[in-house]
Amino acid sequence: MFRYALRQALIGLFLITPAVAAPTAEQRGKAFARTNCARCHAIDRVSESPLKIAPPLRTLHRRYPIETLGEALAEGIYTGHADMPAFELSPDQIHDLLSFLKTLE
Ligand code: HEC
Repeated sequence: MFRYALRQALIGLFLITPAVAAPTAEQRGKAFARTNCARCHAIDRVSESPLKIAPPLRTLHRRYPIETLGEALAEGIYTGHADMPAFELSPDQIHDLLSFLKTLE
């Protein structure tokens, strides 16, 4: 029984290791969004935003081409809304986040 569980665990580890070793830009962007945006914005394809007035991130591309969103992120987004903190992202973080946003389109 124990040996079986250990074997399953090792197989599981083997299967997930490549993803852990080399997360893609999409995965890094998703992790970033989960940490920094998800408490207000929905970051998946279906749910409502936890904060009702914050648009789900999947709807952003309907209002902004993802590329212009990159510029806004580089300069820091100031929506003029007190509820939304100002973010300044590094070029790498922006690349990751935009890669993730594209997966939601
Ligand atoms: C504390 C809550 C909060 C967090 C955290 C937050 N937002 Fe927002 N965000 C808002 C609210 C509220 C609005 C709506 C502002 C408005 O309509 O004036 C908004 C609006 C936006 C808009 C503009 C949408 C539009 O149509 O003008 C973008 C882009 C955006 N958020 C991106 C992000 C990203 C990317 C993150 C994570 C890095 C993030 N937000 C984190 C609350 C938040």
